[in-house]
Amino acid sequence: MIRPLYVLVLTFEILYRSASIIKRKHGFKPCEFDHRCACKRDQSSSLYVADCSGLNMTQIRRFPNVLLKLSLRMNRLEVIKDGIFSDNTLLTSLDLSFNNINSISSSSFIGLEKLKELDLQHNNLRKISFTHQWLARFKSLVYLNLKENFYDEYQPDISSLVRLETLKMDFVHNKTAILSKQFKNLKRLKLLDFSGFTGHCSVPVLTPNTFQNVPYVRHLNLSMCKIKSLQIKTFHVMKNIASLDLSGNTCLKFQVLENVTADLQFSAIKILKVNKIHKVFDMNTYLHTNHIKHLKNTSILELHMDSNRLQQIEPGALRFLPTTLIHLSVRDNMFSLGPYVYDLLALSVKTVDVSGMNSFHKEDSNPEKCNLDLVCTWHTDVRLDEYSDPQFKHLWFRRETNEQAGFRRTFIPIPYNLTKLNYRSCGSQYNITEVELSNNKLENVDLSNNLLTRWIGPLRNVKNLRYLDLSSNMCSYLSTFFFGPDFIVLEKLSMSNNLLGLILPSDIHGNTFQHLLNVIKLDLSQNRISNLPHQIFKSLRKMEILDLSDNFIENIDFQLSHLIKLSYLNLRNNLITFINNQAIIQINSIVDKRKKLAINLSGNKLICTCESQKFIDWMGSTSVHIVNKTHYFCQLSTGERVQIQHIPELFTTLEKECTSYVILTSGLLVSLSLFIIVLIMGICYRFRWKLRYCYYMVKIRSRSKIPQIDEDENEYMYDVFVSYADDDRSFVHTQLLQTLEKENGIRLCLHKRNFLPGNDIATNITSAIHNSRKTIVIMTYHYLKSYWCMFEFNMARMESIYERNNENVLFLVVFEHISARDFPLHILEVVQSQSYIEFPNDEQGDVVFWLQLVTALK
Ligand SMILES: *[C@@H]1O[C@H](CO)[C@@H](O)[C@H](O)[C@H]1NC(C)=O
Ligand SMILES: *[C@@H]1O[C@H](CO)[C@@H](O)[C@H](O)[C@H]1NC(C)=O
Ligand SMILES: *[C@@H]1O[C@H](CO)[C@@H](O)[C@H](O)[C@H]1NC(C)=O
Ligand SMILES: *[C@@H]1O[C@H](CO)[C@@H](O)[C@H](O)[C@H]1NC(C)=O
Repeated sequence: MIRPLYVLVLTFEILYRSASIIKRKHGFKPCEFDHRCACKRDQSSSLYVADCSGLNMTQIRRFPNVLLKLSLRMNRLEVIKDGIFSDNTLLTSLDLSFNNINSISSSSFIGLEKLKELDLQHNNLRKISFTHQWLARFKSLVYLNLKENFYDEYQPDISSLVRLETLKMDFVHNKTAILSKQFKNLKRLKLLDFSGFTGHCSVPVLTPNTFQNVPYVRHLNLSMCKIKSLQIKTFHVMKNIASLDLSGNTCLKFQVLENVTADLQFSAIKILKVNKIHKVFDMNTYLHTNHIKHLKNTSILELHMDSNRLQQIEPGALRFLPTTLIHLSVRDNMFSLGPYVYDLLALSVKTVDVSGMNSFHKEDSNPEKCNLDLVCTWHTDVRLDEYSDPQFKHLWFRRETNEQAGFRRTFIPIPYNLTKLNYRSCGSQYNITEVELSNNKLENVDLSNNLLTRWIGPLRNVKNLRYLDLSSNMCSYLSTFFFGPDFIVLEKLSMSNNLLGLILPSDIHGNTFQHLLNVIKLDLSQNRISNLPHQIFKSLRKMEILDLSDNFIENIDFQLSHLIKLSYLNLRNNLITFINNQAIIQINSIVDKRKKLAINLSGNKLICTCESQKFIDWMGSTSVHIVNKTHYFCQLSTGERVQIQHIPELFTTLEKECTSYVILTSGLLVSLSLFIIVLIMGICYRFRWKLRYCYYMVKIRSRSKIPQIDEDENEYMYDVFVSYADDDRSFVHTQLLQTLEKENGIRLCLHKRNFLPGNDIATNITSAIHNSRKTIVIMTYHYLKSYWCMFEFNMARMESIYERNNENVLFLVVFEHISARDFPLHILEVVQSQSYIEFPNDEQGDVVFWLQLVTALK
């Protein structure tokens, strides 16, 4: 019971697997007759296209007669059994390539009379495989591929294939190669592919006889055919030839072009490929007028001369290229400046590919042995003084080392019809200084992957430029006038992978891009940008795609709200923790006007804390498409990183956390401010007297009517200011006045008598103290209770501290007995530290008292 079940499961699994492989090919399903093969119905004939490739088959099975095309490619077939295809009379295409087929009999292909395409590439066919003339059966064959079968000189008899249009075959000859007479029958033959890239090709010598039997062929591919010599008139008979490929014949050199182009005159040639007809380590080459002049008599469209170590071109040579030429490919060469650049102005080309100049190379794995290798192909008829001609001195971008000419204007001649220039990966190390292009129609310029490290400009005459690629140039300097008003139609600008983060932040007025009014896509990725000025994109109102990915941006400080057409803002792989409120407002205002906006924030350092609470809320609710939102991570305040999947939940927890946070912070804030207020009040209280003193001193000094005192002590207005309580006035006005002023001539200042009317009391007091040499305090209980007396006392104290350098001004007269407990602390301090005398209030004691007082005051 178990075994059949197991087998069943296994069968299903195999079926499932093969089905899943097949499913990958577009529109294919497992075939009904064999599930390992993939089938697709052909719409017009309702027959099937069957693919049985790569199945390790060793024998061909019979196929039902429902097939239009059959592929048995990449199996392990060796023989084709007689009559195996006899049912398949409807088959038009049979692919037997990449097998080991070696013997084919006359009845192997019975039934395939209608076959149009037969592919036998990469098998084991040899001379003996063709003994049965089986090819003669295919009267309708249009396409035949026999490549990678013959290593020797052998051409099978194909004379019966009168409808053949395409033939791909090996072409091996020991010396002179000649296509056999049988080819004469193939009047419809259009394409002959002998390329050594996909088969065996070795034809050292080509002569006018080689192709004499195929005069009608239109496409001839002789790439990698080890051609060593190509005589003139080899292609002369082929007047229909439209494309000729001689690439990869490294022994030919440019000299051969003269023979080739002479033959191609007045032919239908449209595409000529002569890539790599020099070796990788040949001397640099010089293209002569003679090499290409005959092209003038053709209407060629494309010319490919890649990888030829081409350095110089004879002046005038380019003028022989016909005006029909629209594409010129000269990739991977080694051009240097020369007079020829002026001939560029006469070229009619629309697209030029000069990319990959000066790139590094490895020696060919199997270099050909050429007779000419030792010959120096560099022609010395270029006189050296041509290079020092002053007219080139200002040509092309200046080298950085040429510091004096660093800011000179340079002129670049551009072919008048050129729309697309590819100058990628040329290793050019220049500053782009002031550059003027000749009048041009340039739309697409690729200058990427060079070392154009400083873009100074301005670049003039680029009025048609729509696409400019300046990426990967290690540029760290971009002037604010490089993109001048001529960049009016520029739409796509790529500057990725440079070092513009070093220069853009300094453009606070946003002048760098101010003229790029029509830019739709701007790529500033990989530029080490940490911040962008607010105004930087002020003029780019048409911008739709802004790529700032792979930078060091932390905050969106630049203005966005005016970019109303923005549909994609890429901020991937930056250092953004959250988008601040202002930026969110700006983004919202774009979305209000335009429904579709996508922002990519993946690979940033998002945080989910109270700070970013609003941002998280916005992410959850906004209609902006946040690319890959559910795959973002954010860091919580605890340091934990979580995936942002359920934004509403996340927001609620955050909200809870943050309310307590708000209470805490506000509590802290209130207590802090309270503390500060108390502190200030304390300080004010502590220095209240000083503050008041200062206030009044300032007030006094600002009044001119109160005389200024000099330091000289004789200049005091009074000798003594008497500070007393009103209740003690009788003592002061009688005894004190009598004894001190009348008897001893000490000028007293008494508030009753000497204060200026009109002034306020406090000012009067301060001024009196200030203008008296000493201040006597008549200390009584009344005195201690009186507000103004205390004021006088403290002012006098301040006066001695701040105006008289701690000289004692105060003199205490304790009029009645006051117990030490009743003194306020600050008075007690003075009482203890400074001189004071007690009024004895008895006759004998009084005499001594007055004596002491007078001495002390004088
Ligand atoms: C071509 O050369 C190979 C070896 O160099 C030789 O075996 C072969 O016989 C030659 N074929 C002809 C037709 O001369
Ligand atoms: C010649 O064949 C090679 C290899 O298949 C191919 O790369 C090349 O494009 C062909 N040349 C032309 C002109 O088609
Ligand atoms: C060009 O043709 C001439 C005459 O047939 C021949 O002598 C010369 O070698 C050919 N040049 C090259 C480079 O094959
Ligand atoms: C173009 O053909 C004419 C007529 O055969 C010939 O006189 C002239 O030299 C040719 N021009 C070039 C550049 O080969």
